[in-house]
Amino acid sequence: MKKFFLFRCIVVTIAALPCTISFAQKKTIDQKVDSVLKLMTLDEKIGQMNQYNGDWDATGPITKDGDKQNQIRKGMLGSMLNVTGVEHTRELQEIAMQSRLKIPLLFGQDIIHGYRTTFPIPLAEACSWDTTAIKLSSRIAATEAAAAGVHWTFAPMVDIARDPRWGRVMEGAGEDPYLGSVIAAARVRGFQGNGLGNVDAVMACAKHFAAYGAAIGGRDYNSVDMSLRTLWEIYLPPFKAAEDAGAATFMNSFNDLNGIPATGNKYLQRTILKDDWNFKGFVVSDWGSVGEMINHGYAKDGYEATMEAVTAGCDMDMESRSYINNLSKLVKAGKIKVELIDDAVRRILRKKFGMGLFDDPFKFCDTTREQQQWNNADNLKAEKTVAEKSIVLLKNENHVLPLSKQTKTIALIGPFIKAVRDNLGFWSYQYPDDSARITTQYQGIQNKVSKDTKILYAKGCEINDTSQAGFAEASDVAKQADVVIMSVGEASDWSGEAKSRSNLQLPGMQEELIKAIYATGKPVVVMINAGRPLIFNWTADNVPSILYTWWLGTEAGDAIADVLFGDYNPSAKLPISFPRTEGQIPIYYDHYKTGRPATSDSDRFYRSAYIDLSIYPKYCFGYGLSYTNFSYSAITMSDSIMHANKPVTAEITVTNTGNYDGEETVQLYIQDLVGSVVRPVKELKGFQKIFLKKGESKEINFTVDIDKLKFYNDDLKYIYEPGDFKVYIGTNSQDVKEASFKLE
Ligand code: NOJ
Repeated sequence: MKKFFLFRCIVVTIAALPCTISFAQKKTIDQKVDSVLKLMTLDEKIGQMNQYNGDWDATGPITKDGDKQNQIRKGMLGSMLNVTGVEHTRELQEIAMQSRLKIPLLFGQDIIHGYRTTFPIPLAEACSWDTTAIKLSSRIAATEAAAAGVHWTFAPMVDIARDPRWGRVMEGAGEDPYLGSVIAAARVRGFQGNGLGNVDAVMACAKHFAAYGAAIGGRDYNSVDMSLRTLWEIYLPPFKAAEDAGAATFMNSFNDLNGIPATGNKYLQRTILKDDWNFKGFVVSDWGSVGEMINHGYAKDGYEATMEAVTAGCDMDMESRSYINNLSKLVKAGKIKVELIDDAVRRILRKKFGMGLFDDPFKFCDTTREQQQWNNADNLKAEKTVAEKSIVLLKNENHVLPLSKQTKTIALIGPFIKAVRDNLGFWSYQYPDDSARITTQYQGIQNKVSKDTKILYAKGCEINDTSQAGFAEASDVAKQADVVIMSVGEASDWSGEAKSRSNLQLPGMQEELIKAIYATGKPVVVMINAGRPLIFNWTADNVPSILYTWWLGTEAGDAIADVLFGDYNPSAKLPISFPRTEGQIPIYYDHYKTGRPATSDSDRFYRSAYIDLSIYPKYCFGYGLSYTNFSYSAITMSDSIMHANKPVTAEITVTNTGNYDGEETVQLYIQDLVGSVVRPVKELKGFQKIFLKKGESKEINFTVDIDKLKFYNDDLKYIYEPGDFKVYIGTNSQDVKEASFKLE
């Protein structure tokens, strides 16, 4: 690498006389950045702020667009997305090395839940409440992607989402700012590993800044209108956590926030992110979002859109070509100061130096490493472990689950039993040869049971069809079996970007199929595959055992089989409330207290309730069962009085009272009884994941310090107020023990 470094120094010196550039190791990154910046023309600076898409074609993801290649050669491009693979990234990086200053390209990609090995969708992983597992999944994704030439992932998506109609709910960690924050930090740390500059670390990108998840009506790209207090209290904390964890980049968002498009939003990008939070990385626009400010009616044309975006602090333009076409004119007209451009370019170059790309632009182009990661069996094993932790047991009456591996005859019914790619979910990459790597649910179950177990199969119906033609065969198969396992849900490409749905029922004839199979009288287990909370009330009320399996990734089938047959005792908890009907949306546990609170379903009139619907979700935030049972003692407070500098401790004893060893997620919620602004009924402020052998008890302690009591007051100051508080500890947001203390 040293040799290479010397060589580059000479080349740059010759190519760019008079040359003051020197990459002597003792210089700081900022000094190195400045020495490059000094050599750059305005057009070259603007080039760094420009990002283009690669073109997917039959041979792989690379741009064949001669114009783009020419622009790289001229130094008019700083980054590309959707170009992966050592061969392709090297080919384009070689072109960048033909440019005057030889500034390396950055290659970005949406590595949302895995690259070669697909992990559970992020919402599923969030059900694990296991930051070690989540960090591991991001770590492996980064290692595989980096080995394929990728420098930068457009993840984590840390948008709080409280509307399951929004298709991108699958990409985040659900409805809660506390859980969302710890998961955001874990993902950033996973992606960036031991630090940028290592060949297995990719830059993280906290997105979409900000409030994209609150799109009105759950319609993707729609406007967002919310109080600044809600913005600060609910939507910004995961971004702050990502920034604190060292996220190298941020992506702004498509939506407008209270009338200002996020891409042109100075308050978000400059005031909050770059000034208040002192963020040193760079902000990339979302795809085309600079140009979309024209559709918003916020800018007349690309010229104005560019002016708004650059002024607001958007450093890189993804694919709208607004900067490359307008920025130099804006500088010449005196509308944009060159200092603003220098600031953006400095931020981008700093990351290129940080990644070590100036020392060796091809450091991510090692074919041996790429090969090793391409078929890494350890990654598959890790994926299965994370997938198991993501499966939520919603119901298990009469202990139908776990099933015996010696069961004589098992009927497998439903459109997802033999599904292949559907197990992967929306943001997964489909390589030409990867189907054989995916374990279907059918295969997973078949591998698990004894060799004497007979497996019968009937599809029953399609995912979204009106035909019941397969029902008779499916009922017939069910009648021959000792137990029936059904796999239903929504297609994997029904959630994700631009996949908003107004109807969240199980699609097509699937719930009718469940009724028909249930009518055979056989014990039935239903597995639901989806990228969002679906509505399946009949199934929930009648079928004895239900697993929510989401989209679990490459090892879905084996992970599911481990849970069905008791090799893994489910431990996942919902990170989002499941509504009873679409009419309850948005529904979330930490709502404010109203003047006429409804405290039960019989309490409807003149109460904040519906006259025709329960106030409770079907499954609440934090809910999820185990094959064993856990009992909670009363809470003991270390003191009934707390002071700002003297925390109190809440202690509880949890006992495994059932017949299996198992994991429990013990959840801490706090309620501020009276505030200068209305406070939520309760807020998650901590959790601990514990493992208890059957019969075992453990004392769990939560420290309640002053940070857990702070909130944004009417002046948006982050403060605490003396007064009475309640502490709740329990197995989910509804089933809790209660204690209280006073803050003096
Ligand atoms: C648009 C999406 O909103 C964003 O999340 C993604 O990173 C970009 N496209 C690039 O694919």
